[in-house]
This record gives sequence, structure tokens and C-alpha cells, in this order.
Amino acid sequence: MKSKEPSFPKAERLIDVAIRRSFIMPSAEIYGAPAGFYDYGPVGCAIKRRLENLWRSEMLQKEGFHEIETSMILPEAVLKASGHAENFSDPIVSCKKCNARFRADHLLSENPAFAASGAKAEGMQDAELTDAIRKYKVACPNDKGELTEVARFNMMFKTAIGAGDERVAYCRPETAQGIFLDFARIVRNYGSRLPIGIGQVGRSFRNEISPRQGIIRMREFSQMELEYFFNPEKQSHAGFTGISGEKLVFELEDGKVEERTLAQALSDGIVPNEIMAYFLWKQERIYLASGIPRGKFRFRKIPANDTPHYSRGNIDLVVDTSYGWIETTGTAYRTDYDLSSHAKASGADLSVFVEEEKKKVVPHVVEPSMGVDRMFWCVLEHCFMEKTPEKDWEWFNFPPAIAPYHAWIFPLMRKDGMEEKAREVESLLRESGLIVYCQESGSIGKRYARADEIGVPYCVTVDYDTLKDGTVTLRFRNDGKQVRLAIGELAEKIASFVKEGKVALDLA
Ligand code: GLY
Repeated sequence: MKSKEPSFPKAERLIDVAIRRSFIMPSAEIYGAPAGFYDYGPVGCAIKRRLENLWRSEMLQKEGFHEIETSMILPEAVLKASGHAENFSDPIVSCKKCNARFRADHLLSENPAFAASGAKAEGMQDAELTDAIRKYKVACPNDKGELTEVARFNMMFKTAIGAGDERVAYCRPETAQGIFLDFARIVRNYGSRLPIGIGQVGRSFRNEISPRQGIIRMREFSQMELEYFFNPEKQSHAGFTGISGEKLVFELEDGKVEERTLAQALSDGIVPNEIMAYFLWKQERIYLASGIPRGKFRFRKIPANDTPHYSRGNIDLVVDTSYGWIETTGTAYRTDYDLSSHAKASGADLSVFVEEEKKKVVPHVVEPSMGVDRMFWCVLEHCFMEKTPEKDWEWFNFPPAIAPYHAWIFPLMRKDGMEEKAREVESLLRESGLIVYCQESGSIGKRYARADEIGVPYCVTVDYDTLKDGTVTLRFRNDGKQVRLAIGELAEKIASFVKEGKVALDLA
């Protein structure tokens, strides 16, 4: 039975827009759309890829790090060693009347009296949760039935390898584990030198008890994870000096929100080392480039009792959304927890011989782990624009680098050779590497509106003048103004507008 969820009208409206405009679709919709699964349509998939590529560019290419792709199904032994089999669970309560199951901490947080007390359900021990549920008389949201004591529910999807079920396996709950398993071979192949960064973009799986809030809490989702392996005796980062004066906004453990330079954050103990500080700054760059404005996200220091089982310090990136401030990225100081656990459980040597120290070390790890789907949602929220007198339609103000198409191309009319010419322009731009799409039907005004509605930054129109002098109009999404350009210079101009982020003719 479904629980009655709190409603988020603004978010629900945006989900509706996103579904109607081919950003996302409920998965297996014709069979009832099980909760917690969404597909990406052509528009959403294009944006998601651009966000992933932005991450690849900042976190891998500019750093000289390595990208790998590892199995999504892992033998039980891996998840036992990693601690997930034992610890990767959520607190659960059942209704004694209807047997519906709920996340205990979520139900408690939604109770007005508990919320007014200022206490936080996240991080509470199970016994404390049970006590609070009794104290605040939290009941089943479906039928007011009494709730059981809090128990634990392991969130991993279980499966079996091969015929029969003797080889238990799990769908990976994080992409990180595959990186730890492949680490030794990769570091050897690259000269056994530290530090080394290894990342991957891929799906992970968590059998959420009560998935909700659209694509914020899904059972199958995408992560972009970097594992940065370093000598624990060298917690410095070569890139830190250049950025130590950069300011980030932190939410401290007591809830205070304060701006600090990275150097201050380090000396105040908010971040454990230069490495973590450096990767927080990289996240700031990625978020700004993706269209989420400064002031709408910040870095939350996680109290020790709320960090994952493998972590000696976590800082989350949280974003202001219509669901409240939500975590989209977690950066964890995982120490040697994973490599040492896997070395112990498998018998493999996962240490690295450090030449200058003439000794073996088990590297420590800092892990910036970014959720793609949540970031995608935040981009939608912050780029969504309401109607104005100038634009009588809702549209998306995506930075050109993450927009689903670089340009749409229109023949003014489907006659006198304009359609054929538009197809030629389309091929030319595609050959130059731009993502473009030719739209022939509807009035030109309607086609501009349709392009705006999915955030296409430029529209190119082929008209009668094109047939005479080989020029086209290029319209900028944000102010609707146009320039006339020769077809021969179009590809280069669009590429440079994308790079500059130019979305209006008259604006800086
Ligand atoms: N790798 C961290 C996480 O999945 O939460």
C-alpha cells in the first residue's frame, strides 16, 4: 500500500513539465510504473550526458585521472568485506494494521510536533527513533495504525550468479567498490605511483523502502564517483595553493551557514585535508557551470554520528530545491577502510611500494561522489523560467554547454527549396560536431517556443534570403534577438557562443 506523501506542488508541476517534454518518463509505465524508477527521454538523456561529460572534463580530463567501467553485479564476498552486507541499511517500521512499511526517520521528520522540537531524525539510533515515534504518537499515515519498533532493512538488491542460487550476489550499491577491486592492477600498470585518481560513471542500485520525490530518491540511479588514492603521510594537494583563498559557503554542524576560504576551512577543521578542500572547489565549479547559481547550494559538514560506516569525515553538497535542501554529492574521507578490508578478506596485497620512502603503504582515499539524477533535477529546478510578457511560455535557461541541443534549424516554409536548404545546414552543422535538429512543422513562432521549452539556446532559420545570398538568421534564446550569418561561418560561431555561454545578443 502506498503511503500518503507530503505534497510538493512546485516540484510536481515541474515533473509534469519534464514528462510532457521528453526529459523523463516513469519506467515501465504501461505496467503501472513501479515507484523509484524513471527513464530518461531524448531531451533528458542529452542533458544527463552533458552533465556527466562536464564531470569527466573537470574531475578526470583536467586532472589526468583514469576512467573505468566495472561490473554492476558483485559477489556477496565483496559486499561483506566492504561492510555493506552488515551496515547498508535503513531504519524501518511497519504498520500493525495494514503491514505497510515506512522509513522510520522520514515518518518522524514529517511529524509537526517533532519537527517543531528542532531535533533531527537522521543519525538517531534505532532505539531513540522508537522512543521518539512513541513520544510523538507517530502512526501509520494510511490508517493511523500503531507502528512496530524500528528494525533494519538492508537496501541492496539481491540476486544469484548462474543457475541455482548458491552464488549469492548483489547489484552494486555504489560504483566505488569496482574501483577498489581494480585498483591494484591499474596502479601497477601506471608505474605504482601515488597519488592516482580513478573514476567511473554508472548505475547503482538501492532498494529504497519508500521512494518518493520524483527522481530524488530512486531505486536505480547514476553516480559519478572519483576515488583519489594517496599516501596517507602526504595529505597535501599540489593544486591547493592556487585556490586556498577561494570562498565556499559551509553549513556547520550546529546549523550555522558561513562563508570561509578553503584555507580557513582547513585550519578550522571543517575539512580534514587539502585534498578534500581541493575537490570541494572542483564541485563548486561543476555546479556553477551547470546553471545552479551561487547561493543556491552549499557544503554541509556531516556530524560524525551520521557519516557512512567507511568514513572519517563527510561533507555533502546540498542544494536549495522545492523539496528543501537536498544532498546531491557526498565527499568522504574513506581512509584505507576499503582497500584494507578487501586485502584482509581476499588475501590480495593492495598496498603500493612508495619508492622514496622505500616502504609499502596502503593508500588512503578521498572520494567525491556525485549523484547524476539529483544534479539533473537541481539543474531543471534552477533553470526553469516562468512566462513573461515577452515570452508567453515556460522555458529553460540552460547554459548552452548542457542544453539538450546546440541549435534547432527551421526552414521558414516547406516550399521553394527552403526545406532542402535547411537539411543541408543540418548536415553541415552535424559534421562539425554540433548537436542540431531540424523542425519543419508549425508556425515559426510556435517552433521558437518549442525550442525554448526544452532550453535550446540557438535557432537557425533558413528563409528566402538564404536562397539568394547563403545567409541565415540565428536567434538567441534569452532575448529572442537575431543576427544574420553566412552559412559558412555558422558552425564556428555557434561553437564559440556555446563556449562563451552566450544566450542573448544584447546581454553580456
Ligand atoms: N560512494 C558513496 C555513496 O555511494 O554513497
